[in-house]
Amino acid sequence: MCGVIGYVGEKPCVELIFKGLKLLEYRGYDSSGIAVLEDSAISVIKSEGKLDKLEPLLSDLSQDATLGMGHTRWATHGAPTKVNAHPHREQGLAVIHNGILENYQDLKIELLEKGVRFQSDTDTEVFVHLLYQELAFVPDVRKALLKLTQRLRGAYGLGILSACDPEALYVVKQGSPLVLGVGDGENFFASDAIALVGHTRRVIFLEDGEMARISKEGVQVWNFQGEPVQKIPIVLDWSQAQAEKHGFRHYMLKEIHEQPSVIANTLDRAATVQSAGQLLDRLGVAGVDFFKFDRIQVTACGTAFLAGMVGKYVLESLLKVPVSVDLASELRYQAPCLNEKTLLIAITQSGETADTLASVKLARAFGSQVLSVCNMKFSSIARESTASLYMEAGPEIGVASTKAFTAMVLNLYLLALAVARLKEQISQEQFSGSLLSLRKLPPLVDQAVAGEARTLVLAQKVCEATNALFVGRGCSYPIALEGALKLKEISYIHAEGYAGGELKHGPIALIDKSMPVIAVVPRDRHREKMLSNVEEIRARDGWIIGVGAEDDNVFRSLCSEYLPCPQIDEEPLQAILSIIPLQLFAYNVAVLRGTDVDQPRNLAKSVTVE
Ligand code: G6P
Repeated sequence: MCGVIGYVGEKPCVELIFKGLKLLEYRGYDSSGIAVLEDSAISVIKSEGKLDKLEPLLSDLSQDATLGMGHTRWATHGAPTKVNAHPHREQGLAVIHNGILENYQDLKIELLEKGVRFQSDTDTEVFVHLLYQELAFVPDVRKALLKLTQRLRGAYGLGILSACDPEALYVVKQGSPLVLGVGDGENFFASDAIALVGHTRRVIFLEDGEMARISKEGVQVWNFQGEPVQKIPIVLDWSQAQAEKHGFRHYMLKEIHEQPSVIANTLDRAATVQSAGQLLDRLGVAGVDFFKFDRIQVTACGTAFLAGMVGKYVLESLLKVPVSVDLASELRYQAPCLNEKTLLIAITQSGETADTLASVKLARAFGSQVLSVCNMKFSSIARESTASLYMEAGPEIGVASTKAFTAMVLNLYLLALAVARLKEQISQEQFSGSLLSLRKLPPLVDQAVAGEARTLVLAQKVCEATNALFVGRGCSYPIALEGALKLKEISYIHAEGYAGGELKHGPIALIDKSMPVIAVVPRDRHREKMLSNVEEIRARDGWIIGVGAEDDNVFRSLCSEYLPCPQIDEEPLQAILSIIPLQLFAYNVAVLRGTDVDQPRNLAKSVTVE
């Protein structure tokens, strides 16, 4: 939520900051702004709406400024208006903020009683006035920030420009991500390293409770007690090209098309593997004591949660231990049965989702080991985990997650195979045989992506619908949920996913001939039961859209429309194949309806507030 970027160096910074915001726009896109500091004077531009609305205002800023910062917002407190857009300012001071100041109401009352007048409805403005008052008393930004951190509650990644120290930017981190970029004669900060790698790959990830002064000469970091903290930059192996569209109309489409290579790269890790230990090593999780736990708790949000549901099936069936899957936003407030005999598996593309992070911290506090399945290296969740299985799927920019989902499922499958073999739940023959049969997957993923044209034809028939149901059983149940999530989040068609067996417990009442029912029926052990469910829908005049095997003529004959899908024997791997036509279908429906596919209304890619 909210992207922030700052620069100090020799180069004119306005365009540089704007381009950085473009790379961060997936974090929030309802309003934006930039502040620059030149000759001790601060100038600010702001606009509501997407960054395109800010672009014409760039010329209002001094093009010679070499110190500045920008913000792209996902509104929490206060509507997405120009006045609520960041930076917020007082005389000689500008502030940008990613996060929520939870005690802002109390602080605001205190300020109002002192006669302070507020311009905006944001929580951030409270901080601006507090800092202004501190600086009026002692014009030392570091000291003022140290004092204020004792008063703030909540999550904040703050960027500060102050005329009291016109050579530097300041940042403060608690709960929200902040990374510093270390260059030659120039330095940066951002909410996400992807905005920096076009300038420098040497980065420092700040920890909670740290702040920094960033000048062109260097960066100094302190903890909230004011003690200096030595930080060694990490060198990232990312490239900015990974975050570009490469000729695709949308990031989402590009990311759907990247799935064959993501799957192939993931499987490369398992190539030539002889033993469970070797595979765990390749997955980067050998540091976990897999003999210590007697139950697994999976937690995640959104699409990652649905990958976790497939994961439950795989882990339980191979490891024969109880596996619970809970939404991180619920788990963190339950009285969970977490202890040193629990393995928490946290699944997250960004590694920054606030609720998932809080669940990870909770589990650590209960003495559980935490294994995160994560796409972003060095992210907060990865840093808090006992070990991280990095998916290495490359940056995912489209708000609707696609390649991260299939990578999560495949990595969970590899993990389950390795741990099952390690704990002798499966024989060496089964282990090797399963790894061998994985080789069938990449050409089938290619085939699934190549079915795009058929999903467009179907989308043309369905794009006027106002509701849709998705149904499936076994591993196809989470696929039904994910198919519905994809459709609703980018096309705004109301869509729900159900387990086939649940239809009779309510949703069947919704069925009539204008209700598309997308039935996911691969050739697995649930097929016959699903065919009965399909018959029940047919008997009520339902509009059935089948997703199943090309040669399943029996199923096809029951459907009004049919999306053929490549088949594989292993249920969790079938989940990977079944979701691809549904991703493409949702994408095409959204394009036909003219929605903003990559930046759907009200959503953000990285949910770093509760
Ligand atoms: C947001 C994104 C989803 C994502 C979810 C969890 O809602 O729009 O695509 O699945 O957050 O994110 P994570 O980064 O933890 O996987």
